[in-house]
Amino acid sequence: MITRLFTAADPASAAACGKLLREGELVAFPTETVYGLGGSVWNEKAVAEIFRVKGRPADNPLIAHIAKVGDLGQVVRDVPRAAEALFRAFSPGPLTVVLPKTARVPDIVTAGGGTVAVRIPSHPAARAIIEAAGVPVVAPSANLSGRPSPTDFETTKRDLDGKVAAILDGGACSVGVESTVVLPEGDTRVRILRPGAITPEMLKRIVPEVVVDDNCLRPLTDGAPVLSPGMKHRHYAPRAPLTIVTGAREKVLAFLREKAKDKTTGILCFEGELTGENVVCYGRESDAASQSRALFRALRAFDDMPVARIYARAPSEDGMGLAVANRLLRAAEFTVLEVDGS
Ligand code: TXA
Ligand code: MG
Repeated sequence: MITRLFTAADPASAAACGKLLREGELVAFPTETVYGLGGSVWNEKAVAEIFRVKGRPADNPLIAHIAKVGDLGQVVRDVPRAAEALFRAFSPGPLTVVLPKTARVPDIVTAGGGTVAVRIPSHPAARAIIEAAGVPVVAPSANLSGRPSPTDFETTKRDLDGKVAAILDGGACSVGVESTVVLPEGDTRVRILRPGAITPEMLKRIVPEVVVDDNCLRPLTDGAPVLSPGMKHRHYAPRAPLTIVTGAREKVLAFLREKAKDKTTGILCFEGELTGENVVCYGRESDAASQSRALFRALRAFDDMPVARIYARAPSEDGMGLAVANRLLRAAEFTVLEVDGS
């Protein structure tokens, strides 16, 4: 298939991409978090094609993207008070809320479940094409399954060129990790299923009780209920195995400096800490937003290097750092090495 390439700077691009979506074609487009691979929520063939192109397990449900709160009723049966307050506070933006679905939402979208995840993105190009499509748009991250999500046009093109009808270039994503996914539990509590730029502290200003699901920082334990199927699958991983190194800062840096001498070992650290052809930085140590913007591109950079293993600095888990830590832990398949014996 020849993939049509559009740029968000062209005012005709939204109408063209919207039309393709409405007609059942797949279009990759930028959001403020990561690039998404879009298809019409109403078109089961298009949704099946998304799973096929990504190589995504069929048990991992998709997020329906809408342009405004007023469109919720198309995909959602009931909006609890907590959810309404959250949409009012954080949408459009990087928040996804899991809610009971309407009968019209096909089972393939929700992996057979009775709930659907909904999000109202803030990226102007995303909003424009959803509005132009005139239908809710399901859009998982535009990576092939298991790979780090693409946060720019070039990376999206590398994964999807020749496989989808169109890709829209909207530059680099401002957030860099996927939306915060929350599950309302009654009117006064929400559970964070996937951390993102909308932090637990921000949610607490709107909803009295905010629970961070155990699986955000720990592997699933056998027999525990799976609230968000995405947590089951290998994710965000570069090709070489990744180990997160923890301990006192100086000891960790000394360990990494030693490891960096072997050029078949990749080092993932913060800006200004180490240099070398096998060293990649992901943001500044004290700035989780900069880490979030850089992380996925940094992980992919190792795939173009002759490295057989990667050691990484660990982020702080405060605020937005929770999202960065969650993605890095998953990329490492929860492999952590403590170098500080004391
Ligand atoms: O920022 C984002 O959310 C990006 C952009 C493109 O909008 N999209 C994205 O979609 O990250 P995806 O498919 O890569 O991740 C969706 C996550 C998965 O972890 C999935 O398991 C979870 O949301 N999810 C979807 N529907 C769900 C549901 N009904 N219940 C619980 N979790 C759900
Ligand atoms: Mg994804």
